[in-house]
Amino acid sequence: MNTKTIHIKSFGCQMNKLDSSLVTAALAERGFLLTGKATEADAVLINTCSVREHAEDRVLSHLGHLRHLKKTRPQLVVAVIGCMAQRMGEKLLAHEAVDVVAGPGQLHEVPELIDNALADHQKRMHVLDNIRQPAASETIRDISERLDAFELAYDSDANHIKSQAFIRAMRGCNNFCTYCIVPYVRGPEVSRAPQAIIEQAGKLVGQGIRQITLLGQTINAYRYTAGDRTYTLADLLEQVSAIDGVRWVRFITSHPGQFDTSILQVMADLPKVCPYLHIPAQSGSDRVLKAMNRGYFAARYVDLIDQARATVPDLAVAGDFIVGFPGETNADFEATEAMIRRVRYKNCFVFKYSPRPGTHADKRLADDVPAEVKQARNARLLEVISEIAETDNRAFLGKTLEVLVEGPSKKPHLNKAENQDNPQLIGRTSSDYIVVFNGPETLAGKFANVRITKTAALTLFGELT
Ligand code: SAH
Ligand code: SF4
Ligand code: F3S
Repeated sequence: MNTKTIHIKSFGCQMNKLDSSLVTAALAERGFLLTGKATEADAVLINTCSVREHAEDRVLSHLGHLRHLKKTRPQLVVAVIGCMAQRMGEKLLAHEAVDVVAGPGQLHEVPELIDNALADHQKRMHVLDNIRQPAASETIRDISERLDAFELAYDSDANHIKSQAFIRAMRGCNNFCTYCIVPYVRGPEVSRAPQAIIEQAGKLVGQGIRQITLLGQTINAYRYTAGDRTYTLADLLEQVSAIDGVRWVRFITSHPGQFDTSILQVMADLPKVCPYLHIPAQSGSDRVLKAMNRGYFAARYVDLIDQARATVPDLAVAGDFIVGFPGETNADFEATEAMIRRVRYKNCFVFKYSPRPGTHADKRLADDVPAEVKQARNARLLEVISEIAETDNRAFLGKTLEVLVEGPSKKPHLNKAENQDNPQLIGRTSSDYIVVFNGPETLAGKFANVRITKTAALTLFGELT
């Protein structure tokens, strides 16, 4: 019996966090125990992200801490897994602190790699050599199912009761947006069999899960052919919402190019499918969209959102934008601002363009927007987004909304509510609005109705009804 302890930390997106919980489950099956403290662990795993330079810098600085820790605990094993492991391979292995390097396609091998490293303290690396080769799709389909088959370990992020879970619907990406590293580190698009997804959803519901979020880099590209039938995201949403015990189903992230409107119809028709679309536009300028290889025009994107709002009642729309893409002029930037004002997002993430080695934009286009201009554009968009959300959220005042309660709020006393006997809880509506209210902790993981008494740009406040 293994009595070693592991500590795992995620630095990336939802997909990265899902990988962390599955790797944790695989390690637990091998007898490893989980600890919340790196200083108590026999092995520390860091699951990494390459999407922007900043994400990689955070990992490198964390590795600096671990190198320090290893001075006092030379037996400690450090494993770097995930996207950055795939991108940097040997370079990471050469780092003084690192014993094991494993890419996103090799995660099922992590328990064995860790076991071996604990035994002999030799350096080991497993990453896919030709991740974009057609043969890699087959390998990825094969091996990744082994990882996805593990029972989900509890959400490593959250200290609240688990009532919501992520399920991978597809891996990889074939879009090759010119700025993006994901296709190079996650490999080609591979959709999972609907049956595997439905079975997993059924098991999770048996464990008390009520909300399921289907994950994919371009989830609306989900396609799985079995015999003479091809299943799409719309089919998958229907099948998941047909499961007894599932209350809410979500899906992220949608790509605006080739967004099949049957998805909108399913959202409108099936009450369990949440009226929430995360559908990044990235830019409002056609010139920039073309240089990004996004495959749509700004006007087409806006039409799609109009159609979505007309089809799905109370739809909330969220997005991502990149500022300072190579060659972005003031006029381009203004087009982005105009798009944001036109679409009126619930919320948006804004990123400063960060050149990623090996991508088309990095090889062919000069990173010519000065850092201070990127910073100013970033701040401006955040201001506009927040102003819109603040105005639009006022419409919720006095309304009663159903929320899935996540647990105690991490930032207590955002508002001084009267009922101080109960802690401040945080919940989310089906359209992903965050609601803060006072209530008993026993509500965590349950649904509750909250009457909204105060609103802000990012949060609604209210009272239990
Ligand atoms: N697959 C998703 C998101 C992938 S990465 C999609 O296509 O929408 C998440 C976000 O990071 C992207 O939407 C984009 O806004 C941002 N991003 C990706 N590469 C970036 C880069 N090189 N610099 C800055 N932001 C980037
Ligand atoms: Fe990256 Fe574009 Fe794929 Fe999203 S769709 S992961 S931005 S290449
Ligand atoms: Fe996610 Fe970052 Fe990889 S965004 S897919 S962890 S590069």
